Amino acid sequence: MRITITQIKEMKQKGEKITMLTAYDFATAKLVDEAGIPLILVGDSLGMVILGYESTIPVTMEDMLHHTKAVVRGTKQAMVIGDMPFMTYHISVDDALRNAARFIQEGGAQAVKLEGGVTVAEKVRRIVECGIPVMGHIGLTPQSIHQLGGHKMQGKTPEAAKRLFKDAQALEEAGAFAVVLETIPAPLAEIITAKVSIPTIGIGAGIHCDGQVQVINDILGSYTEFVPRHAKQYVKLTDIISKAVTQYHNEVKAGTFPTEKQSSSIDKSLLAELETK
Ligand code: KIV
Repeated sequence: MRITITQIKEMKQKGEKITMLTAYDFATAKLVDEAGIPLILVGDSLGMVILGYESTIPVTMEDMLHHTKAVVRGTKQAMVIGDMPFMTYHISVDDALRNAARFIQEGGAQAVKLEGGVTVAEKVRRIVECGIPVMGHIGLTPQSIHQLGGHKMQGKTPEAAKRLFKDAQALEEAGAFAVVLETIPAPLAEIITAKVSIPTIGIGAGIHCDGQVQVINDILGSYTEFVPRHAKQYVKLTDIISKAVTQYHNEVKAGTFPTEKQSSSIDKSLLAELETK
């Protein structure tokens, strides 16, 4: 049985911290699930860390569904959240409903996430009314990177802080089950966390959020093109992988791989006919 939104909301009430991590493929999702992480986000960050784009903007529904299906196949207990890509929920409520439904029906996800507050609240309400759990995402919203002028801290002025507070309230009222707070001052995240009833999941938003989310490649050190300040590298996979790949390359060239251990044999007499040809 997978984690439900009721259990996630109860974690906030009990003061139990909520962990969320991204995953984009079967094997990684399986490890994250087995570690007991309750929320797995198939983030549109895959555009950068998996597909090599400069931003999340080129990511399509087809990209997202492809990876969501793999993550769902690799997991048993986590709630899998599909991240709605750029312009798949902006044009109309109909579009938003159709694309949210695809994540659930085709992708096998249990919830969707979308960026924005007041401006997307009506869409959130309608998606939730259709029975699809929605996670909000405010603060630094990477799909609006050109409007925001880069990966900059949000909510730094009293007006901007008030707007973010209203965004969080609008998502709560629209029925979102949780909200991501990305790259905002920790004291602002603390106030929002105290004032809204739904769990806040922080990324670069300090210690006081109800939970934390990270891009898995950032904590594993497997994507080093852009390392955000809020990321902590628990291991540096780029070094480990480079070393292993170089060693493999060298051994093949030197003829020391494969050895008998990695090879299979056959009675040579069975090949006698071939030998004489
Ligand atoms: O796409 C993503 O990985 C995200 C997280 C950073 C919250 O939106």
